[in-house]
Order: sequence, then C-alpha cells, then structure tokens
Amino acid sequence: MHPNLIEENIPLAHLHTFHIPVTARYYSAIASQEVLIELLRDKTLPSLPYIVIGNGSNLLFVDDFPGWVQHITIGGIEKIFEDHQHIHLRVGAGVEWHQLVMWCVERDYAGIENLSLIPGTVGAAPVQNIGAYGVSFSEVLEELEAVEIHTGKVRKFTKQDCRFGYRDSIFKNDLRNQYIITNVTLRLHKKPKLQITYGAIQETLAKMEVQTLSIKAISDAIIHIRQQKLPDTDKLGNAGSFFKNPVINQQAAAKLQEAYPSLPANVLTPLHDTAFKVSAAWLIEQCGWKGYRRGDVGVYADHALVLVNYGQATGQELLTLSTDIQASVLQRFQIALIPEVVILPLPQTTLKSPDYDTRTPTL
Ligand code: EPU
Repeated sequence: MHPNLIEENIPLAHLHTFHIPVTARYYSAIASQEVLIELLRDKTLPSLPYIVIGNGSNLLFVDDFPGWVQHITIGGIEKIFEDHQHIHLRVGAGVEWHQLVMWCVERDYAGIENLSLIPGTVGAAPVQNIGAYGVSFSEVLEELEAVEIHTGKVRKFTKQDCRFGYRDSIFKNDLRNQYIITNVTLRLHKKPKLQITYGAIQETLAKMEVQTLSIKAISDAIIHIRQQKLPDTDKLGNAGSFFKNPVINQQAAAKLQEAYPSLPANVLTPLHDTAFKVSAAWLIEQCGWKGYRRGDVGVYADHALVLVNYGQATGQELLTLSTDIQASVLQRFQIALIPEVVILPLPQTTLKSPDYDTRTPTL
C-alpha cells in the first residue's frame, strides 16, 4: 500500500470546472511517470473503478466517485530538438494547456496560438484532439508517451498511431481506458503559418488595431474572443462546450438549408462531400434555451453550447437540463446531440483486467 500516494474521501469541487461538491473515495496526485508505473504495477491494490483527470475541465460528476481518481500532475517543458525551421518540445501531461501556449507565444514558437485559453491539461489535449479557431492539436503532435494501465509498460505513439478525428482519437475508441498519457512531444514552427480565417479573428484584430500580424497578436485576439463568449470557470462553473457539434449527411443538411435559407455562416460546415458539421449552439438557441435558467443551472446567455452552475447546482440537475435540451433539439430538428463532456461515474471506468482482478482488496 502507498499511504502517501493514495488519499481517502477527498473533495473534488476544486478539481473540476463545474465545481460540483462531490468526493472521491480514493485519490492520488501523480507527479511523475515513475510513480504512475509503480502504482499501476502494485498488485496489492484492489480492483477499483478509476478515472484519470487533468484539471477536470471536461467532466460532469452526477454523484460521488466510488473509486480511485488518478490526478496526473506531471510537469515540465523541455526543448529536445531545434533547427532553423522547427522546435520540438517535450511537455509533461500535467502542464496547464494555456500555460504552455503562453510559454510558446512568449518565445515566438508558432502552431498553438489559436488554441489560447482552452482549459485543461496537456495530457487531455490528444485524447479529445482539442481544437479551436481553425486549428487542432493533431496538427502539432510529433509523438507522445503513455503507460499501459494493465501492464505498466511505456509505449510511444506517433501522430498516425493516435488516429485523430474531430474531438476524437484512439484513446476514446479502441484504446479507451487502456493508456494514461504522461508526456507529449510537439513540433512547433519558427516561421509561423498564421491561421486567421476562422470566425471573428480578423474582425477582432482590426478592432484591436493590430498593424503587424504576429502569433502574440493572434493569441491576444483569441483570448479576447473567448473571454467575451465563454464564462470564466473560476467565477461560473462550466465545462466549455457541453455537446459536440453533430455531423449530419447531405440530405439532412439540404433539409436544414431549405427550412432556414438565411443560415448564418459557420452553422453548417462541409467536412467532405457527404458530411456536414452543424453548430450545436445554433440548434440549442433555435429551441429557445439560450439564457435559460432553472434554479442554479442554466444555459449561458452569451453562448448556447455552455451549460453553467450558478453556485449550488448538483450534477444531476445539470444532467437533467442536458437531456431536456437533447430531447427538444431531437424533436425539432431530428438531430441527436452527443455530450462532449464525460459524465461520471461511468460503469466502464472499472478496471477489469485479469492483472487487476488478482489484487486483494486491502485499501
Ligand atoms: N452560435 C449560435 N448561438 C450561440 C453561439 C454560436 O447560433 O449561442 C452559432 C454562430 O453562428 C457561430 C457558430 O454557432 O458562428 C459557431 O460558434 P463558435 O464559433 O462559438 O463555435 P462552436 O462550434 O460553438 C467550437 C468548439 C469550441 C471552440 C470554438 C471556436 C466544439 C464542440 N466546440 O464551438 O470549443 O472554442 O469552436 O473554435 O467543437 C470546447 O470544446 O469546450 C470549446 C469551447
């Protein structure tokens, strides 16, 4: 047993951005790959449901967590390669994503400036392939290291190995709950390719009277846009976009276009010939939910995709609101909204491997 590494009955409100006052039966802050391997290989630990968290910016707890919360806090930003065009950085999974972006912007390392102010940690970025303002994490990943939960073995994954998609990767599919990411290596550019075509970036740059484009200017503009649209998680509990933007086929897209001939730009985006991404925020707003409040839960008045905790909300109240929204969007548009946030506790987070089943319940 590891009394120093495993704590009991730990409050989780400050460890996730919805700030629901739930507890974890067991909790470990894991600050290095070595400690993680030691814990995973320890056969004296019982088979427990577990979750791996970064800074909890994509989680909704509807109840106390009955198992083991593994909080990855591995730090460090290290330059491991540099030539005249590129720089490779190895970054610990527990580093705050936005701190990494700021570190790079200060040094003029380009590639992630459009991802400024995204909440969460570096280790969570590949799992759901975070993206914003025309850029996604997959574009800068060189490789990553992850520890296999069942064996404690370290494995390297290249970008191809990760099978990235929209808010998606192998870690959410075939390898779901099988690996814990411990560090990532990013390939950033010294000569930036600036991406300013998405949404309000150009307009904001103009408003800010930016004369010379730079990665700092783009980062500032994106911080400004996000601060206007998305609530600060320290002031108002939320998890950013609650739902993914649904993908619909050509027929459904044509029907939507016909019913709403003046659809605003960005509501319907072609992914390829037969698939279109629809703005979930728009669908929710059309159903009248934007700014809606019920007790201490609601839909943020400045962005319909953000569900908020006004103070004393329970996870169950937020979940009920989310299912009511899903039902009304389904009824009106025949489009199913899928949550982007992970709703916990989930039965599939239980460790089921034979290795773990041999553990004796000594905790
Ligand atoms: N819109 C509405 N009502 C609203 C908000 C938006 O109708 O209340 C419409 C507007 O037409 C707008 C369009 O939706 O042009 C798209 O809105 P936005 O640019 O805010 O993007 P989004 O699709 O709602 C996605 C990500 C965000 C990311 C932004 C910017 C998903 C699920 N969400 O939101 O990511 O910051 O693009 O790139 O893909 C997150 O994942 O937590 C997150 C905040």
